Amino acid sequence: MTELSISLLPENPADDAAIERLVARTFGPGRYARTAYRLRENNPHRRDLSFTAYIGTMLVGSVRLTPITIGALPALLLGPLTVEPPFRSHGIGRRLVERALEAAKATLAGEGAARLVLLVGDEPYYGRMGFRRVPPAQITLPGPVDPARVLVCPLDATPLDEVRGPVRKHPAAGLPLQESA
Ligand SMILES: CC(C)(COP(=O)(O)OP(=O)(O)OC[C@H]1O[C@@H](n2cnc3c(N)ncnc32)[C@H](O)[C@@H]1OP(=O)(O)O)[C@@H](O)C(=O)NCCC(=O)NCCS
Repeated sequence: MTELSISLLPENPADDAAIERLVARTFGPGRYARTAYRLRENNPHRRDLSFTAYIGTMLVGSVRLTPITIGALPALLLGPLTVEPPFRSHGIGRRLVERALEAAKATLAGEGAARLVLLVGDEPYYGRMGFRRVPPAQITLPGPVDPARVLVCPLDATPLDEVRGPVRKHPAAGLPLQESA
């Protein structure tokens, strides 16, 4: 198949409407009932760690990272990850995830930096990008979730057995200065 010329760009506020349309088409109204959504509600994502994929002027994919904590560990929630159906299986999803992980790793030296990325998704897909299952009893989410779909990717050498406790919105969620430019 012909190689597509894809640009990965840091998310821009001007992308919001197109991302929302893509996410709505992909996940439908049921997205609001998802456990991951509860963690994102009133908890702005990190625009500086969220990326879009463009082909020419058309937005064809998006990934977002949102600040959370797991027990006392600062972390990031990955999602939604979406790629426009006609452009799937060209590596766009993988590249978006890898780019977001790379950007998150680049923040590690900062105070209070996220130490790992968590998502609720399919291990056969995300396993290729370094995500692993957390042993089920170790962490709890604020709603029902299939434990086999709770996956984490450490950004540093944090061992998985230190990943324990309740998953919550970042404590600064909802405060006016939370969102970065
Ligand atoms: C999941 C998704 C983002 C992948 O995007 P993409 O650009 O097609 O991803 P990639 O090109 O990196 O990888 C595609 C490969 O992963 C496979 N794949 C896609 N979703 C998968 C899943 N849930 N489990 C296992 N494999 C999966 C595809 O079959 C494809 O395999 P191929 O390369 O042998 O054809 C896209 O399919 C999508 O938007 N799906 C709907 C939303 C969704 O499920 N998001 C993830 C949960 S937040």
